[in-house]
Amino acid sequence: MEVFLRSKSFFVHVVLIFGFLGAPRVYASEPSLTLDYYTSTCPTVFDVVRKEMECAVTSDPRNAAFILRLHFHDCFIQGCDGSILLDDTITLKGEKTAATNIHSLKGFGLIDKIKNIAESDCPGIVSCADILTIAARDAVILVGGPYWDVPVGRKDSVTASFELANTNLPTPDESLLSIMSKFLYQGLSVTDMVALSGAHTIGMARCPSFRSRIYGDFGSTSIKNPISESYLSNLKSICPPIRGGNNNITAMDYVTPYLFDNSFYQILLNGEGLLNSDQEMYSSIFGIETRELVKKYAADPLAFFQQFSDSMVKMGNIINSESLINGEVRKNCRFVNT
Ligand code: HEM
Ligand SMILES: *[C@@H]1O[C@H](CO)[C@@H](O)[C@H](O)[C@H]1NC(C)=O
Repeated sequence: MEVFLRSKSFFVHVVLIFGFLGAPRVYASEPSLTLDYYTSTCPTVFDVVRKEMECAVTSDPRNAAFILRLHFHDCFIQGCDGSILLDDTITLKGEKTAATNIHSLKGFGLIDKIKNIAESDCPGIVSCADILTIAARDAVILVGGPYWDVPVGRKDSVTASFELANTNLPTPDESLLSIMSKFLYQGLSVTDMVALSGAHTIGMARCPSFRSRIYGDFGSTSIKNPISESYLSNLKSICPPIRGGNNNITAMDYVTPYLFDNSFYQILLNGEGLLNSDQEMYSSIFGIETRELVKKYAADPLAFFQQFSDSMVKMGNIINSESLINGEVRKNCRFVNT
């Protein structure tokens, strides 16, 4: 399919994708979420989340990255419904062991901690999906990123999907067009994709996520200068070519690893993106639109912040309509209520 699509125009591509996958079952911008959903039932919830996130991010800024990624992975699998938080049980196969998540997705304990406090303040009121969405917003602020209002009122799913976790989430060695189609399928645009990828301005990647990049085209996309060359050789010393070093990690934004800023895009302009998928937004011959957006956000941090905020709200509004009807407020984020 990929080879065939690559020879066609982008518009033909989009048509084919929707023809292939069927119309998206979830839509962004559902009107059912509101800013004041908890105003009378749990007025303290925003303060509780903020306070715990402040504590966690101060003690280790990586916690901000964990929570932000967790929210993204929640929303791309049957909507933002807390399905990612469910543990495997005899009757339920969760999403935590899917290829992109296993050994990689973290922050579950922090969400448990916040949920426990929310339950003692207002039992049975605040969904895990909402806690995760609010926590992701606070994570971004706490490392220097933009503020946005978080619409709430999500319900937690009573199901999870290991299969969708394996098919819907983008992977670092996937082609640009294929990743684009995964965002379009969720009702998100190419602009949303480029802006949301700016989340890689914080956090770390493991060696298997960037191995093919550093032993692949890194040398040819990057500018030939001593800093870039020593960066690449340092990456190679962290991550051996064949196997091993699988738990070795490095920052995706080596300039300011724990500051939420636009240096991620400047790194892409230098051809030094750590993940193949990130660099493709600037370097791929299919990335005409994405390249312009990368340039824009590299030059204009405010434009990046504004678009990131808007796109985060849009992503957070991917609703699992089934959960809104059959969903619940879980007592424990790891298990459906009995
Ligand atoms: C565009 C497609 C995307 C791809 C292919 C992708 C892929 C990846 C990969 C491979 C890692 C490293 C994981 C590891 O090695 O353990 C990662 C980390 C991360 N991703 Fe993405 N990602 C994408 C989009 C996003 C989006 C939309 C967000 C949030 C809005 C996000 C947030 C993060 C964060 C914060 C980390 C760092 C996590 C940590 O420090 O452990 N990513 N991503
Ligand atoms: C992991 O990284 C360290 C340096 O950060 C390096 O000394 C070690 O050799 C790496 N492990 C492998 C298997 O390459």
